[in-house]
Amino acid sequence: MLSKKIEKALNEQINKEMYSAYLYMSMSSYSTNNGLPGFANWFMVQYKEEMEHAMKIYDYVHSQGGKVKLMAITEPISDFKDPMDMFQRTLKHEQFVTKCINELVDLSIKEKDHATQIFLQWFVTEQIEEEGNDNDIISKLELAGTKGNGLFMVDKELSMRVYNPPLKEKN
Ligand code: FEO
Repeated sequence: MLSKKIEKALNEQINKEMYSAYLYMSMSSYSTNNGLPGFANWFMVQYKEEMEHAMKIYDYVHSQGGKVKLMAITEPISDFKDPMDMFQRTLKHEQFVTKCINELVDLSIKEKDHATQIFLQWFVTEQIEEEGNDNDIISKLELAGTKGNGLFMVDKELSMRVYNPPLKEKN
């Protein structure tokens, strides 16, 4: 069973994950419009992962007998300076999400909600990976540059990213 405070905070996190999906969909669209199919692929995979994060919380709230309350999703930015700008914004956004997850964990400890605390551990680990990926791509862009051959090479590498659906969806 979820306390009202935890239920509200989890619903807010569903909204933040949906916003993240929307933001990365916007970046994917910008990449397509600017001749960067690899970046478009990377951000579309990220979009799918964010939807998966939202659904994980959605399912968890239901599993605990809670009520999901969907809220309006804020319009994301749709114009960017260049690919570096997109990844700097991505990293900044993921640092914000990490902060939100940490605050949720703090709240679950305060509310003595051990189930939610355990549930959130997956997200704590996921955020390490997400920030790591963004830092990695920013370093590559710093080395390769955001124009010409260097950018072409990074775009090619990002085209290799594949979305791996959760196991239950694979069956
Ligand atoms: Fe769902 Fe990118 O954090």
